[in-house]
Amino acid sequence: MAVILDGRKVSKEIEEEIKAEVSACTKNGHRPPHLVAVLVGEDGASETYVTAKMKACDEVGFKSSMIRYDATVTEEIILAEVDRLNKEEGVDGYIVQLPLPAHISVEKIIDRIDTTKDVDGFTPANFGKIDQEHHSLLPATPMGIIELLKRYVIKTKGKHCVVVGKSHIVGMPMSILLAGPGDATVTLCHIHTKNLAAHTRQADIIIVAVGKPGLITGNMVKEGAVIVDVGTTRVADSSKKSGFALKGDVDFASVEPKASHITPVPGGVGPMTIASLIMNTMIAYKKRMNL
Ligand code: GUN
Repeated sequence: MAVILDGRKVSKEIEEEIKAEVSACTKNGHRPPHLVAVLVGEDGASETYVTAKMKACDEVGFKSSMIRYDATVTEEIILAEVDRLNKEEGVDGYIVQLPLPAHISVEKIIDRIDTTKDVDGFTPANFGKIDQEHHSLLPATPMGIIELLKRYVIKTKGKHCVVVGKSHIVGMPMSILLAGPGDATVTLCHIHTKNLAAHTRQADIIIVAVGKPGLITGNMVKEGAVIVDVGTTRVADSSKKSGFALKGDVDFASVEPKASHITPVPGGVGPMTIASLIMNTMIAYKKRMNL
């Protein structure tokens, strides 16, 4: 039986630590940290994520604001919003939730974000510093995964890590973090990789972030591997009140018996991403306030 890497529990612990820090700051007369989320369009999953991010802010004592635009908004308007948030003294960090509608250039938007407020760690300046040992604003999902592994005392040094998926949000920064500060040997697999199973079978640690439910099956995993599942695809499920269930990229039933540790979906990586965003906002706040 694999140990369940309980992101919900660990993220609660982190949020309690941050809550105590916020409380100490406000007792000393400082304003609380302020995180802003920009949400464009009506993507159901984005809506769920942003709502969860705002709820976590409330729980730790941050001020939070959500700015909504409908899907037809122009790129110029979003760029102007980014410029405004960059200048706004009372905003410590902000995120533009992805994906954006196809007519808006993600690169243009990200390039314009003030690096000191880039709590997603997506700007070229912050992304370019991922392999620095003490770099602070790391991309939230890879940062959350590293923190989860640390809290379960799973070492990456000298391990063979296979990352599946090379997105800007997860796979690419994850591979850099593991190979750089993590001292692991890393194989980065993606949609064009031939014979994925031949790679995953060699892995001590598999991190999969592609959005294909059940892609990784038991026969693709070696005995005792650590499995981190970043997938959260909505699949129709009439037994759920919402009408859908969240499915990971790992076929839990066949993989869990072979794994030493495994993240559940939901309740694994998702809450850790949110905890990392909260940590990054706290870092950005303390720098802004010279605390
Ligand atoms: N969409 C999916 N994950 C993320 C994330 O971590 N940050 C942002 N901004 N958008 C996302």
